[in-house]
Amino acid sequence: MRSSGWRGPCTPATSNAISPSSGETTGRTSATPPSTTGLFIGEPSAWNRGFGGDSIQTLVRFAFDEMNLGKLRINVFDYNDRAKHVLEALGFVQEGCLRRDFFREGSYHDIVILSKFRETNTLS
Ligand SMILES: CC(C)(COP(=O)(O)OP(=O)(O)OC[C@H]1O[C@@H](n2cnc3c(N)ncnc32)[C@H](O)[C@@H]1OP(=O)(O)O)[C@@H](O)C(=O)NCCC(=O)NCCS
Repeated sequence: MRSSGWRGPCTPATSNAISPSSGETTGRTSATPPSTTGLFIGEPSAWNRGFGGDSIQTLVRFAFDEMNLGKLRINVFDYNDRAKHVLEALGFVQEGCLRRDFFREGSYHDIVILSKFRETNTLS
């Protein structure tokens, strides 16, 4: 993953996930001070190939070591088991839940709030 575009405090950092075989950008992660994080790998054919985990791992290091953030937080739809698996494997834990907060295909879903604090980080 390649980090780019961070211009200092109060601006978001975005990082591209780049396929080593094609050199194409497959996705993007971001961290916006003080704590908000986003993650997507755009092409479903690129899922489950390690890009998401690699991207988040690099972002975590960059956010804590370079941006000096104390916390990262990300909202995940409750049915997104893949995203939860990737984030929990990298030390994100559930700190809250917005119950029945999102309507999709006929029913309401919870939004799970996952977070990670710098002092618990072992990835650096
Ligand atoms: C969620 C997302 C970022 C994950 O990225 P990715 O590149 O597919 O993830 P990785 O390949 O690094 O890791 C996938 C892991 O999830 C696991 N997994 C796959 N499907 C799963 C499922 N249904 N339930 C639980 N775990 C699952 C894989 O086994 C793998 O775990 P492992 O490394 O322990 O074997 C990506 O799928 C994506 O962008 N999806 C669409 C947008 C999205 O959901 N963004 C997240 C918003 S919070």
